[in-house]
Amino acid sequence: MLIDCDPGLDDAIALLAAAQLTDLVGITTVNGNVGIDHTTHNALAVTQIADLDVPVHRGAARPLIAPTIDAAYVHGPTGLGSVELPELSRSIASDDAVGFICDTARAVDDLHLVAVGPLTNIALALRADPDLPSRLGGFTIMGGGAHAGNVTAVAEFNVWADPEAAAIVFREFPMTTMVGLDVTHRVLMRPADRDRLRAAGGPAAGLAADLLDFAVARAGEIAGRDGAPIHDASAVMAVVRPDLFRGEEHPVDVELAGTLTRGMTVVDQRPRGRAGEDAGRANARVLFDADEAAVVNSIVDAVIALDSA
Ligand code: BDR
Ligand code: CA
Repeated sequence: MLIDCDPGLDDAIALLAAAQLTDLVGITTVNGNVGIDHTTHNALAVTQIADLDVPVHRGAARPLIAPTIDAAYVHGPTGLGSVELPELSRSIASDDAVGFICDTARAVDDLHLVAVGPLTNIALALRADPDLPSRLGGFTIMGGGAHAGNVTAVAEFNVWADPEAAAIVFREFPMTTMVGLDVTHRVLMRPADRDRLRAAGGPAAGLAADLLDFAVARAGEIAGRDGAPIHDASAVMAVVRPDLFRGEEHPVDVELAGTLTRGMTVVDQRPRGRAGEDAGRANARVLFDADEAAVVNSIVDAVIALDSA
């Protein structure tokens, strides 16, 4: 697995789970929840705290066309809540995330690319190598939603942050697994999960517990939820344990021009194949539901196991 991310509380937990559950060959960073300096610093800090031998490559500092926005109101000013980050002893492997994505797709058989931030690096990688999709074993994003948004009524943050990049990605990849808000809002990590992590005591579990302190509090303040959606960790789990998720294949495109709907993932759920219907070819597997307890327990178990790996 290669993860393109913008850590971000849930990105950090996704990295920890992926490090335990997959052969994680690299991390690329993108501007998103916070600026590229912070997201890159945070990715390095996660690998350092959890003692992961995984290279971090720095990527795009701004969206393709859209103005830069952030989600510091959700993730805190540094992107990792109130976690006290250690002084970095690690540094980036390169500042060419796009080159690393393209080279790794050529070099590694059956690579699964998982993008859990704005899709800027992925769109640029498609421009650099239009054959990228055929070189991959799979492609999964956290982004979008068929029925609701979180930044606007209809737009989800990762798509809203770089809609032009998201549109390129949905148009160029023949099949994207879309782990959007429909499913991620059904998978919440709660105070009891945080307590299990904290009681385990290791550095990765302790970091995840600290991240959840902030995430759970913000989810309560912002949305009145009794737990935090860990969007990006759900995307990793959808790759590792697809049996825990329910989805359907549909045509998906991104609205770029709408005054109220820019950044919306338009999911065409009309039945296809009958006369008179003009729905296009399905280009995404859109996930709608998951076995919440099984997904959350798998994430917690993975992070705890990482400390004894
Ligand atoms: C997505 O946006 C970011 O804030 C999170 O890290 C996640 O990738 C959820 O909309
Ligand atoms: Ca993210």
